[in-house]
Amino acid sequence: MKHKGIFIVFEGIDGSGKSTQAQLTYQWLKKKGINVILTHEPTDSKYGKKIKSIIYDKAKKQKIRNLKGILLKLYTKDRIWHIKNIILPVLKQGFVISDRYYYSTLVYQLDANEWEPYLKRFRYLKPDITFIVDTPARIALKRIINRHKNKAIFEKLEFLKKVREKYLKLKQLDENIIILDGRKSIEAIFKDVKKEINKMLNKSKTK
Ligand code: ADP
Ligand code: TYD
Repeated sequence: MKHKGIFIVFEGIDGSGKSTQAQLTYQWLKKKGINVILTHEPTDSKYGKKIKSIIYDKAKKQKIRNLKGILLKLYTKDRIWHIKNIILPVLKQGFVISDRYYYSTLVYQLDANEWEPYLKRFRYLKPDITFIVDTPARIALKRIINRHKNKAIFEKLEFLKKVREKYLKLKQLDENIIILDGRKSIEAIFKDVKKEINKMLNKSKTK
């Protein structure tokens, strides 16, 4: 489906700093007078609510058989809902920034050999640009602890290390992925984000 808007995604392991960059990008574009929304997965749909009720409840989680399969289904349904109800309507004229998208399902729920069949099956709308904030797991965990937020089930050092490796493999799959050095300061990373977005916007103008 053709649309006039621009679709920007931020990805990274928990605590990588992706939400901070998504928020800065949102404020920056809004200040330029652009019609833009900032959205997030898991969403507040019934599927997203179900996901959050599972991943933030340790006791509940332990009781669920086939947790991986159930989460894969829920994240997928939530995303289909997200695209139809939030992303596509705004993209008709405006910009959408999403904090997490299908890349999260690829790296958290699936193995690399499952990526292509999964993407073929669901044929999700592809972002114009995807930023992966690449931060070493040890640094990301420190940031999470400082943030005092509910800890998701995934926020364990060994697990985050594996997820980070998978994120870096995604580059082979998608030419629109930009890897950002998450060890830099918030301001330095944001400078890189703005440079890449400006580059993309100039390119799409000349097309
Ligand atoms: P995520 O959305 O990836 O889980 P956040 O953007 O919420 O991560 O950042 C996690 C914590 O780390 C927050 O307290 C945030 O202020 C801090 N933070 C984000 N980016 C950086 C950075 N580049 N350097 C140092 N601290 C950061
Ligand atoms: P999020 O609210 O973005 O947490 P954080 O700000 O700590 O990164 O995401 C909640 C958790 O959901 C996070 O650990 C990643 C996980 N997740 C998946 O496992 N698969 C998915 O498809 C998505 C969208 C998220």
